Amino acid sequence: MSNDNQSVLQPKCLLLIFSVGLNIFFVFEFPGHYYKESQTAITFTASKDKPLENNTILLIWFWPFGIKFNLNSCSTLYNIDGCYLTVDRDLYSEAHAVLINHKEIKRNLSNLPTKPRPFFQKWIWMHFESPQNTRRLNGLENLFNVTLNYRRDSDIVVREHIVLKTEDTEDKIFPQVLDKKDKLVCWIVSNWNGKHERIKYYNELKKHIDIYALGRHFGKIVNNSQYNEILTRCKFYLSFENTDHHYDYMTEKLFNPLALGSVPVALGAPRYIYERFVPRDAFIHVKDFSSPQKLAEHLLSLDKNIEEYKKYFQWRKHFEVKLVNYPQEHACRACHYIRTKKDYQFFGNLNKWYWDPINNGT
Ligand SMILES: *[C@@H]1O[C@H](CO)[C@@H](O)[C@H](O)[C@H]1NC(C)=O
Ligand SMILES: *[C@@H]1O[C@H](CO)[C@@H](O)[C@H](O)[C@H]1NC(C)=O
Ligand SMILES: *[C@@H]1O[C@H](CO)[C@@H](O)[C@H](O)[C@H]1NC(C)=O
Ligand SMILES: *[C@@H]1O[C@H](CO)[C@@H](O)[C@H](O)[C@H]1NC(C)=O
Repeated sequence: MSNDNQSVLQPKCLLLIFSVGLNIFFVFEFPGHYYKESQTAITFTASKDKPLENNTILLIWFWPFGIKFNLNSCSTLYNIDGCYLTVDRDLYSEAHAVLINHKEIKRNLSNLPTKPRPFFQKWIWMHFESPQNTRRLNGLENLFNVTLNYRRDSDIVVREHIVLKTEDTEDKIFPQVLDKKDKLVCWIVSNWNGKHERIKYYNELKKHIDIYALGRHFGKIVNNSQYNEILTRCKFYLSFENTDHHYDYMTEKLFNPLALGSVPVALGAPRYIYERFVPRDAFIHVKDFSSPQKLAEHLLSLDKNIEEYKKYFQWRKHFEVKLVNYPQEHACRACHYIRTKKDYQFFGNLNKWYWDPINNGT
């Protein structure tokens, strides 16, 4: 997750994308994210009356970013059985785990649970922003048992990823998407921080190539169907992260264009980190070029050479994008983890791990 143009596509919608090349739902913006509007409008079914004897109880302490979701869908959406998700704090003493989203924690930690923690209960630290864009809080070191994050060395890793195709699923995007391309380079951005590398890069790049730029910063807020259409129509999409942090941080800014058939131009982590998650020929990295001008020249040359451009789609023969549904999927997977992993766990160096991960092997 990231600080802007978050477009979270549900598995259902993903299906829709692949079947009709278009998905229809709203986005709205709140603290820098685009989300489905339906996520606020959803009438989330209150959990089954009571947890069953055998259920693993996951208490969601805060709705992450205020996003509500159906608490009863782990089984139908993710095939995860035996989980009882709840936001009812009265169930605190019974809960096997408490899921706490970092963004909601008050600086003085006063809004965290205060009652004694049952011996079997694990606290899960959930967070999907980059460290550069996250306030570090004192006192978190001795609270959590488990981390839920995009980093590969988290206890529970939930992130968009590239998976082998299981069946001979027909690619509904390629090559049809080629006929829809009437724009060269696009960018949708809401958060504008002139100090960020990506803004400097953009300002330089646009001197050498036309960039179709949208988003709140440009006074053109796009809804989700426009977002998807724009990505479909663009040959290249600027997947510029708002951080240059190295630790596995890459967001829907990268995976949505991959899913929708636009070639991402990545800026953020170094290429070798991207290559841990995405086939190397699926994207362009700004550091592949010595300057924005050189990158522009490359994009312009690909614009004229369709055969070369098509090479960026070869990975699709064997792989496909698996998007994630924040935060519902995260909660379900967290519950599954708690249900299946009975070990004692304690994560005593959260602050160091997340904000000072120097020499930690990544
Ligand atoms: C509890 O759940 C486990 C795993 O789903 C199942 O194998 C077991 O039979 C259940 N036990 C009871 C008493 O329901
Ligand atoms: C913690 O901070 C909040 C403001 O965020 C304040 O209202 C509250 O009184 C503080 N609590 C304590 C115990 O200091
Ligand atoms: C998105 O915005 C466009 C243009 O304002 C509008 O025509 C369209 O109906 C909107 N889509 C949705 C799903 O609201
Ligand atoms: C979770 O961590 C706390 C330390 O904050 C520890 O006291 C507790 O025993 C741990 N619980 C489990 C179930 O691992």
